[in-house]
Amino acid sequence: MNSRAADAPFPPAEARTIARAFLPPRFYGNRYDYYYTLTKLRTDPLYPGVLAALRGTTAPVLDLGCGLGLLLHALRLDGQSMPWHGVDIDADKIHRGRRIAERSGLADGARFEVVDLGQGWPPHRGSVAILDVLQYLDAQAQGALLDDAAAMLAPGARLVIRSGLGDATGRGRTTRITDRLAHLAGWMQEIPKRYPTRTELETRLTAAGLSVDFQPLYGNTPFNNWLIVAQRG
Ligand SMILES: C[S@@+](CC[C@H](N)C(=O)[O-])C[C@H]1O[C@@H](n2cnc3c(N)ncnc32)[C@H](O)[C@@H]1O
Repeated sequence: MNSRAADAPFPPAEARTIARAFLPPRFYGNRYDYYYTLTKLRTDPLYPGVLAALRGTTAPVLDLGCGLGLLLHALRLDGQSMPWHGVDIDADKIHRGRRIAERSGLADGARFEVVDLGQGWPPHRGSVAILDVLQYLDAQAQGALLDDAAAMLAPGARLVIRSGLGDATGRGRTTRITDRLAHLAGWMQEIPKRYPTRTELETRLTAAGLSVDFQPLYGNTPFNNWLIVAQRG
């Protein structure tokens, strides 16, 4: 399980294993979450990259903008059993995510909570995941969140960010347009506000005393997605 590449999507069998948790409890129920999850896991290298970044750590994970809690499912499939706390502004996703985790036997050590990151975030000590969420916050909230996330890191813990970076490349433009379309199509309630630049992230996290590593995490997607892993020392 742990030998998978960190920059490739899940292999089909593992993607199906995780996605099956998102099937409706009855055969005639809505399969949207199943197909969305399966497609994401099959095409996007996000979760293998995040799993590799957290592997070997045991600190609790605060997952900011957790959606349906897909990271929780990926962690458990990977044998990572640290406590997980997911927060998201979308109350419907949080309720669905909690029900799915309960049905899958993953409720122990997992907590789902409705939180608007534009207003604040819960106290935490451990690792922090911020996956495809920063763009929904304004510059001030992005900066405050990054400072607080850096302060939350326990020894050995990681701050794992996936974000499109603000730049003038074709990938940058595709990322911006797709996020807007996701909002217009109703997939995402929130409107993207701004994409942080690499320099901004590097400057802020380094000033907080963290070492920072940037890796492109495009996979076969056309997006300008990067995996940023920061830790103390
Ligand atoms: C692209 S999805 C990413 C979900 C998950 N992190 C993942 O990578 O699979 C962005 C998530 O951020 C959430 N979000 C957007 N703005 C937010 C805010 N102000 N506070 C909390 N969550 C927010 C959305 O509801 C959505 O679930």
